[in-house]
Amino acid sequence: MTNEEEPIVQYQDVNKIYRGGNVAVEHINLTIDRGDFVCLIGTSGSGKTTTMRMINRMLEPTGGTILFKGKDIHQQDPVALRRRIGYVIQNVGLMPHMTLYENITLVPKLLKWPEAKRRAKAEELIKMVELPESFLDRYPAELSGGQQQRIGVIRALAANQDLILMDEPFGALDPITRESLQELVKHLQQELGKTVVFVTHDMDEALKLATKIVVMDAGHIIQTATPTALLQHPATAFVRELIGEERLIQARADVTTVGAIMLKNPVAITPGKSLHEAIQLMRDRRVDTLLVVDDNNYLKGFIDIESLTRQYAQSTAVSDIMQTKLFYVHESALLRDSVDRILKRGLKYVPVVDAENKLKGIVTRSALVDMVYDTIWGENADHDETEAGPDHQPQAGGERHG
Ligand SMILES: Nc1ncnc2c1ncn2[C@@H]1O[C@H](COP(=O)(O)OP(=O)(O)OP(=O)(O)O)[C@@H](O)[C@H]1O
Ligand SMILES: [Mg+2]
Repeated sequence: MTNEEEPIVQYQDVNKIYRGGNVAVEHINLTIDRGDFVCLIGTSGSGKTTTMRMINRMLEPTGGTILFKGKDIHQQDPVALRRRIGYVIQNVGLMPHMTLYENITLVPKLLKWPEAKRRAKAEELIKMVELPESFLDRYPAELSGGQQQRIGVIRALAANQDLILMDEPFGALDPITRESLQELVKHLQQELGKTVVFVTHDMDEALKLATKIVVMDAGHIIQTATPTALLQHPATAFVRELIGEERLIQARADVTTVGAIMLKNPVAITPGKSLHEAIQLMRDRRVDTLLVVDDNNYLKGFIDIESLTRQYAQSTAVSDIMQTKLFYVHESALLRDSVDRILKRGLKYVPVVDAENKLKGIVTRSALVDMVYDTIWGENADHDETEAGPDHQPQAGGERHG
């Protein structure tokens, strides 16, 4: 019995050095757990295919050890090993002289499954990729490239192998077909609990599919991380470059909270203060609105200079003219989710509160606009929607707080 907890593949300081000293890969240390979707990504010649092919002994390492389900693959018969591991290659690799049925059931046949069991498996699989059963009697040439690749994918699942290797399986496909096959593979992997090792050049593909991304350069693993961790902490300049500035910036908006960019210590006043004091404070701090908080710093409302001047004669306290309807955001809210709402309201700033509704800071429109256009979406982004430009002057607290 195999131990379900143990890694499905373990590389222990694996090298592949060709005669003449050409280093294909060196010091490969990698653990692939059950249910992982590992994407190997890197420039051409970085050693992705080499790393993958050593798993099923299509290539023999020149140093180190690879364990498959805890056992050294060197101690295992290569042919038997290969039948235990599914493999999808670029440009499909279907046998042209065999029907789809024969192609799909190639390995099950080698494993001597009875005919009825093979037939049932093929029918089950072709349904999963939404192709008609009648296709089983067709030849590969009678299918489109995308349809052939679907067959390539299910062929790798036919013998119930729990580890599937895929070397740039969708490289040659158009973006739409590619996307639908990515969904299919991800779905099958999750649904059937498979472990997948997938080579790609495409960072979007890796970010979308992987549970673990392995970045390779010049025969070495540079970084192994989840997609989120890779985006948040690229280990080297090479990784940053591979990810691309645009994706890194996008990722920042996905994780940056309102609290992280807010200005702390906003100008605020308590409801019991006189209007005279309010005017004084506005003048001192050069702001035209004041947030109103109670003694415990709970946000209550705001007052602005217009209503203050209008009602100065009739009223005495801040509470008399305070407006209680105000838009605010929580400090833990993601910038990504709040930016639009803040900008669309056309407010000069919005107060930021904690979970208890206590005032923590403000986010000014000008700070947001800077942040959004210069940092998050790049300098070429469209400014029209918010009508805010570089010469926009915030009328409220923004200036002083900034
Ligand atoms: N039979 C061989 N003899 C000598 N060197 C080889 C041999 N096969 C591969 N290499 C070298 O090993 C290195 C890694 O090759 P590999 O095919 O693993 O790269 P890759 O990352 O898959 O590249 P690509 O993205 O182009 O498929 C390359 O420098 C390659 O030239
Ligand atoms: Mg390759």
